[in-house]
Amino acid sequence: MARTDSLLGPEPTFGVYIHWPFCLSKCPYCDFNSHVRHGGVDQSRFLRAFRAEIAATAARTQGRTVSTIFFGGGTPSLMEPATVAAILDAVAGHWAVAGDVEVTLEANPTSVEAGRFAGYRAAGVNRVSLGVQALDDAALSALGRTHTAREALDAVAIARRIFARYSFDLIYARPGQTPAAWRAELNRAIDEAAEHLSLYQLTIEPDTPFAALHAAGKLAVPDSDHARTLYDVTQEVSGAAGLPAYEVSNHARPGGECRHNLVYWRYHEYAGIGPGAHGRLDIDGTRRATATEKRPETWLARVEAEGHGLTTDEPLSRVEAADEFLLMGLRLTEGIDLERFKALAGTPLAAEQIADLAQHGLIETTGTGRLRVTPAGFPVLDAIVADLAA
Ligand SMILES: C[S@@+](CC[C@H](N)C(=O)[O-])C[C@H]1O[C@@H](n2cnc3c(N)ncnc32)[C@H](O)[C@@H]1O
Ligand code: SF4
Repeated sequence: MARTDSLLGPEPTFGVYIHWPFCLSKCPYCDFNSHVRHGGVDQSRFLRAFRAEIAATAARTQGRTVSTIFFGGGTPSLMEPATVAAILDAVAGHWAVAGDVEVTLEANPTSVEAGRFAGYRAAGVNRVSLGVQALDDAALSALGRTHTAREALDAVAIARRIFARYSFDLIYARPGQTPAAWRAELNRAIDEAAEHLSLYQLTIEPDTPFAALHAAGKLAVPDSDHARTLYDVTQEVSGAAGLPAYEVSNHARPGGECRHNLVYWRYHEYAGIGPGAHGRLDIDGTRRATATEKRPETWLARVEAEGHGLTTDEPLSRVEAADEFLLMGLRLTEGIDLERFKALAGTPLAAEQIADLAQHGLIETTGTGRLRVTPAGFPVLDAIVADLAA
């Protein structure tokens, strides 16, 4: 059946997400689906399973043209370049791929991993996203990182030489971080940045070592006022440098946005491949939510037995799909298209709530029929979405 443009909005894009679930060590703040395997990982066996899951997903999404591919993790920079090349070959063997496809790989900024960058470029990767996290050695050590600031900056320099596009991540609102120190660190980062930076506020995720330390009173993170000051510094410094936020935590020069992540936030279609990957597919006019088995070896066994690792594959109701569209789209400074909300939900977004939030200066509608969160609204985005959602 033809794809339903009313579900996708104009210029639909199709992204493929590939999850590599292994890291050399587990950072104490992180709750991503990442695992340490001291005995090593059989990459050729995982590759066979990735190929099988790509084939199974492509069989139900024929006719798509892949516009973005993203290797996320875990630590995809632990993959051999040959593994990455073979996965990209499999994607191209099953779907049409756009001539200007964006292919991003997340990398840890160590010298060993930077040594593989040329191999990734030869494999077809054209963008890297580096987990720098901090430019201060004491902070890196407190975050449990295994690299120094110097090593991270050297990896950024190698990325700059090899890839036309690169980004890096920093975590702020760290224990003890002052606004002046963050301002200096962010300015230093901007000197090293090109078109894109991800700036995340440290979140204490449940069931992580940081959560246990925090609960025991051994990890003091900034209170909400202090975190708000650090957020304001982030907006001011990045905006003045021409890298304003285009999403809650993502900053870019115009045109430098991560096109793959825009697929999620614009609620377009994407396939999730690999352990613990999520997808959203439009099949026979219905949006479906997919998720795969999280545990790497269980996923592997499942794919080897059944040809895919899906544990969830269910249709979303119109209300569920519209709420997801709202939740994702309001993260973007461009906001959402109100007509597309109506097409998804079957009814318009509640006018009273819009008027009320607009009166408080938290959201605004544009002359082109979009609804977007204002700079004053972003710090209370969760409450705005809760108010607007069905
Ligand atoms: C999958 S990791 C990045 C790739 C790579 N494994 C690395 O760590 O360099 C994605 C990013 O999420 C951010 N992140 C993870 N846990 C976080 C937390 N609890 N609070 C804030 N940011 C977090 C980090 O900036 C990290 O680089
Ligand atoms: S932050 Fe990156 S390296 Fe650290 S555990 Fe999470 S995914 Fe692995």
